[in-house]
Amino acid sequence: MTPWTDRTGKVSLLKSAVLLALCLPALMILYNLVAGPPVARPAIEVNHQAGLWSVRLVMVALAITPLRHIVKWPRLITVRRMIGVAAALYLALHFLAYVVDKGFDLATVLTEIVQRIYLMIGFAGLMIMTALAVTSSDGMIRRLGAKRWQRLHKLIYLLGLLAILHYFLQMKLNVAQPTVFFGLLLWLMGYRLIFWRGGVTWATAIIPLLLLSLAAALLTGFGEALYFNLHRGIPVARILNANLSFVRGPRPGWIVLFFGLGATGLAIGRRIWDAVVPVRAAAARVPR
Ligand code: HEM
Repeated sequence: MTPWTDRTGKVSLLKSAVLLALCLPALMILYNLVAGPPVARPAIEVNHQAGLWSVRLVMVALAITPLRHIVKWPRLITVRRMIGVAAALYLALHFLAYVVDKGFDLATVLTEIVQRIYLMIGFAGLMIMTALAVTSSDGMIRRLGAKRWQRLHKLIYLLGLLAILHYFLQMKLNVAQPTVFFGLLLWLMGYRLIFWRGGVTWATAIIPLLLLSLAAALLTGFGEALYFNLHRGIPVARILNANLSFVRGPRPGWIVLFFGLGATGLAIGRRIWDAVVPVRAAAARVPR
């Protein structure tokens, strides 16, 4: 089976489109490297871009389960593995670019990883990602057995957390982006908690989705305020107040709310579709 065909060997439009989309960041990185404005350390530029894409794809892989429930599209599961493997490949590029930046001096690489906490956390993430990538084939699923394989692949939640922590700790000033990722991870984990407690009926109902989105957004806002208070001594109230101003663009809490409401909107849209389509189908069957 190729990445663009389904199990029957037929070309899958969904898989082909996702495969193409997953290649675009690599082309963009290559283009920036070859034709972009000159930079002092091109390898570090590649390291940043590839790292960012790896985190984004880990989040997208985690979003597949909620999305397939909410829009009632089980076939989405067929692209999850591809997204996970792409996240692993971008991570490999992230690490390789770092090694290139260090002039392939593996002793320096190892020393830096041991000495810097954010690199140690990244290294733990890299180990987990490697374990998930090498066990992602059908053969490995058979060899490990479905139960053990599923248990192992639950490590993706830990990977998500480590990746965001690594991202957060290496940012010197502006922590807005990793804070957004943290809020989105809260939403995704919260969704799983609801699903685990109440099954798919709860987890796709409008009220739980709305409450989850509000809770994830508020926790993101308060978490951000707490961070600035503990780290830089800025009063919590000042940060919370800044959350109400859009002068410098939306704060992380709002962005998390936007995504949560987007997911809730999709659930509402799917319900309307379910209500309208059977009526239209029945109308079409009525002889004129
Ligand atoms: C041994 C493993 C890893 C090493 C050596 C490593 C190394 C680095 C380095 C050197 C930076 C740039 C720091 C700076 O410029 O000050 C960085 C940033 C970053 N890393 Fe890693 N990393 C590792 C694992 C990971 C993992 C597992 C992920 C996510 C899946 C990740 C995602 C990121 C992201 C998103 C950034 C920020 C990019 C940006 O600033 O735009 N890294 N990493």
